[in-house]
Amino acid sequence: MDLLIVGAGFFGLTVAERAASAGRKVVVIDRRHHIGGNAYSESDSETGIEVHRYGAHLFHTSNATVWEYVNRFTTFTDYVHRVYTTHKGTVFPMPVNLGTINQFFQAAYTPDQARALVREQAGEFDVKTAANFEEKGIALVGRPLFEAFFRDYTAKQWQTDPRQLSGDIISRLPVRYTYDNRYFNDTWEGLPTDGYTAWLERMADHPNIEVKLDVDYFDESQPLSRKVTSGRIPVVYTGPVDRYFDYVEGALSWRTLDFEREVLNVRDFQGTSVMNYPDMDAPYTRIHEFKHFHPERKAVYESDKTVIMREFSRFANREDEPYYPVNATTDRERLLAYRELAKGEKHVYFGGRLGTYKYLDMHMAIGSALTLWSNELA
Ligand code: FDA
Repeated sequence: MDLLIVGAGFFGLTVAERAASAGRKVVVIDRRHHIGGNAYSESDSETGIEVHRYGAHLFHTSNATVWEYVNRFTTFTDYVHRVYTTHKGTVFPMPVNLGTINQFFQAAYTPDQARALVREQAGEFDVKTAANFEEKGIALVGRPLFEAFFRDYTAKQWQTDPRQLSGDIISRLPVRYTYDNRYFNDTWEGLPTDGYTAWLERMADHPNIEVKLDVDYFDESQPLSRKVTSGRIPVVYTGPVDRYFDYVEGALSWRTLDFEREVLNVRDFQGTSVMNYPDMDAPYTRIHEFKHFHPERKAVYESDKTVIMREFSRFANREDEPYYPVNATTDRERLLAYRELAKGEKHVYFGGRLGTYKYLDMHMAIGSALTLWSNELA
């Protein structure tokens, strides 16, 4: 073995595929029973609908290198992501755009009129002196839009009153003064035609790659543990950086999600893939309806059953799946300390969202893995 990779997510598999194609023998371990990390999807046994087990994953990128690379393993559908939100019993398009504004204010504002209105309403606070998330949010989009679409949604995401949250966690809130309600602005967007798992399996399908599942790097009873491999084999580590150092500098904090999956005997539950629920009366933040990601899969799409998944957000405990870095001041200090410790680990390369404590979209994880390969490992 020339290289051990801890974690079979997009970061680990990209490095594995590049190394294997360059003739290196690679072993990839993952403590889960499947490859793909959080991008893993599976076919629901009752309906055949592809379900994104760890939350909806939409591929989008403007990075030509990444786009060329991913197209070696999958084609993409022409799916374009659009999100809607149900506020006080009315459905609005998201992100907030001219359609949302005109529907909300029951008006027919031009772009300039809408911009002037929001500017006037935002004048209640100054972005530079806003004392907390709520004041900053109002300073960015004005009180009416903030209270309708951001305040309670944020409170549900963070289980915290926005007045108790730091304004630093937002620099902007998206508002568009056109009717464009495409969720992403990237050059390329789509969903893998045969699903995420088929794509990820093709990346791992190389004679120089061996994948071992249900193997935890820190389990000292297995032969590829940290204790055995440390200092002997180059390691790409994509697990949590604080776990690697046994939390000596303290645990980094994360938010996690709980998902409630349900099969319904209806053909179409909500008419779209993602519906947000920004009000306090719904305890969940979103409902996903997976069949809408693939309208081209006719038999499944037109069947009389559907799969929905309600998403609930909360702070993660150590045993929960870490999803979104909280990034509080203490976290940032701890991260700097872990980065210093990481410099002392010879032949260990920390990468991916858990290894760097950064929210990374898939194209970013793939792009940074390609960079690690070409700049340091190749
Ligand atoms: P990832 O977490 O996927 O993989 C790390 C792997 O390491 C895991 O499989 C884990 O089991 C393994 N591991 C950890 N510790 C280990 C140990 N001790 N021993 C062995 N294995 C270990 N992106 C996007 O582009 N569009 C989108 O729509 C979304 N949507 C989205 C929704 C939600 C809810 C989340 C949380 C994230 C997204 N993402 C996304 C981001 C996407 O999930 C992310 O880019 C990739 O998961 C990053 O891949 P990594 O390989 O870095 O991590």
